[in-house]
Amino acid sequence: MQNLESIVRAAKTAFATALDPDALEQAKARYLGKSGQITVLLKELGKLAAEEKRKVGAAINQAKAAVETALAERREAIRQAELSARLAEEALDVTLPGRGEAQGGLHPVTRTLERIEQLFASLGFAVADGPEIETDFYNFTALNTPEDHPARSMHDTFYLLDEDGRLAKGLLLRTHTSPIQARYMQAHVAKYAGQETMPEIRIIAPGRVYRVDSDATHSPMFHQVEGLWVGENVSFADLKGVIADFLRRFFETDDLKVRFRPSFFPFTEPSAEIDVAFTHGTQQWLEIAGCGMVHPNVLSRAGIDPEKHTGFAFGFGPDRLAMLRYGVDDLRLFFEGDLRFLRQFV
Ligand code: DAH
Repeated sequence: MQNLESIVRAAKTAFATALDPDALEQAKARYLGKSGQITVLLKELGKLAAEEKRKVGAAINQAKAAVETALAERREAIRQAELSARLAEEALDVTLPGRGEAQGGLHPVTRTLERIEQLFASLGFAVADGPEIETDFYNFTALNTPEDHPARSMHDTFYLLDEDGRLAKGLLLRTHTSPIQARYMQAHVAKYAGQETMPEIRIIAPGRVYRVDSDATHSPMFHQVEGLWVGENVSFADLKGVIADFLRRFFETDDLKVRFRPSFFPFTEPSAEIDVAFTHGTQQWLEIAGCGMVHPNVLSRAGIDPEKHTGFAFGFGPDRLAMLRYGVDDLRLFFEGDLRFLRQFV
């Protein structure tokens, strides 16, 4: 049967030129599908006489088997080809040399903070923490800062808005780490309530703080390290000793002068600004911290009797200390994330 042979040949060609399973299924439908050429021939068998039917039927079935074999072979071939392609694409050359791990490093400010923590830990200071979204109460009120103090203005402080765009009640980004003093003292008092003597408080509190400010020496986000020592008979002389000792060890030099310059902070009395000058080089005085004796109002607000306890507090700018230690003259470099700059400190 010439017709059958040509159908089988055409089917084989169609299968061979089908490049993917979809195309192959479409080709299959043309021959073996419901109205495929072979199927149609089989359906027409019924019209033939019995004798003829057997003969033609056998021939058609043979042709059908040939087409099915060709289809199965082509299916397998396509599967193999796809597998090989995938293997080639996903090939791993295990003989390639390793790329190695890139070594990371600590940010210079992080290194500075860690160094400060270590040095104060050796003087018996624990590390305390507090929230960066602070309440107006802890940021200002608890620290004896009056309503009309300029630090409270929109100008200097980032206040938080609620969903309706109105000022969220008393919430702001803390402008200094000093609220941790108030929080810590309160918690300390609560912890030792009812006990005859209250253990000393000796903490530092490093963290991020925020102000509406941006130039070469001011960034809207910067760091502070708060310090607080409250106990019986803690004096300004202790403050001077602790600070001078810390600075000599931080800068690893004795060629250093420390000056306490009278100043004002609402939460300390008396208050001072701490300046350092290196006795080599320019010998310029550089302001690096504020400090003072904790104001009696701040103590009593936290529940500590100012007649029995005294304390000193200080607030360092560790970014400033990092600038001095590493000789960097623009604070913003620390926070721009430029790896060419940061890699120098690793
Ligand atoms: N909180 C002050 C500021 O941000 C710095 C400061 C001054 C902290 C004196 C203190 C302190 O603890 O006693 O300007």
